[in-house]
Amino acid sequence: MTNWEERWQRSETPWEKGRAAPPLEELLDDPGCALYRARRVLVPGCGSGNDVRELARRGIGATGLDLSPTAIARARCCARAGDEDYLCGDLFDGVWRGDREFDAVWEHTCFCAIDPGLRPAYAQVLADLLPAGGVLAGVFFLTPWDPGEDEQGPPFGATRAEITGLFEPWFELRKEQVPARSYPGREGREWLTVFARRELPNPGVADPVPSA
Ligand SMILES: C[S@@+](CC[C@H](N)C(=O)[O-])C[C@H]1O[C@@H](n2cnc3c(N)ncnc32)[C@H](O)[C@@H]1O
Repeated sequence: MTNWEERWQRSETPWEKGRAAPPLEELLDDPGCALYRARRVLVPGCGSGNDVRELARRGIGATGLDLSPTAIARARCCARAGDEDYLCGDLFDGVWRGDREFDAVWEHTCFCAIDPGLRPAYAQVLADLLPAGGVLAGVFFLTPWDPGEDEQGPPFGATRAEITGLFEPWFELRKEQVPARSYPGREGREWLTVFARRELPNPGVADPVPSA
């Protein structure tokens, strides 16, 4: 299991690019992007907060969450971009949430970082977090390995079918595309999506685990 805090302390952070994810910029360049209608966006596994600040810079209130105190300390040291804040906590234990309300999530390299066995729990957490109509926008890293590399993670890859299967009980896929913009080396390996939280679970798929 990855010790994320240790990775941050040792600066073993190859994912850290010092700028927002290009697919997020691509999404936000569309003035009709659903994230502009959100009151508060959660960015799980935000690292040093590059994406959080991009959202804030575009006028969108955003909260970054990461379980690494070092990552959160770095994020908090950055110049403010707008209405952003950061929380240190584990997405899965919910302790960090308090009475905070979110109506959107931006996912980028948290899903591929967690153990794949936790993916159903990840989908459940987001379903519990978002109200009906809430937005789950994300870029998923499908094939993070170079040719010849062992397919080991993190990052752990995923297929479109796996991702839609995980979220479909609660979320409707509204938009999908291979992003035109990516970090160098990720071209053609990512899938940019916007899902909307359903009011009721999708009757076409197996009943999701009832919320606590
Ligand atoms: C691959 S890094 C990506 C960071 C950031 N999204 C980026 O692309 O720069 C994954 C991040 O998720 C955080 N993380 C992993 N599991 C988490 C959990 N259960 N709750 C909150 N953060 C988590 C790690 O500490 C790490 O900073």
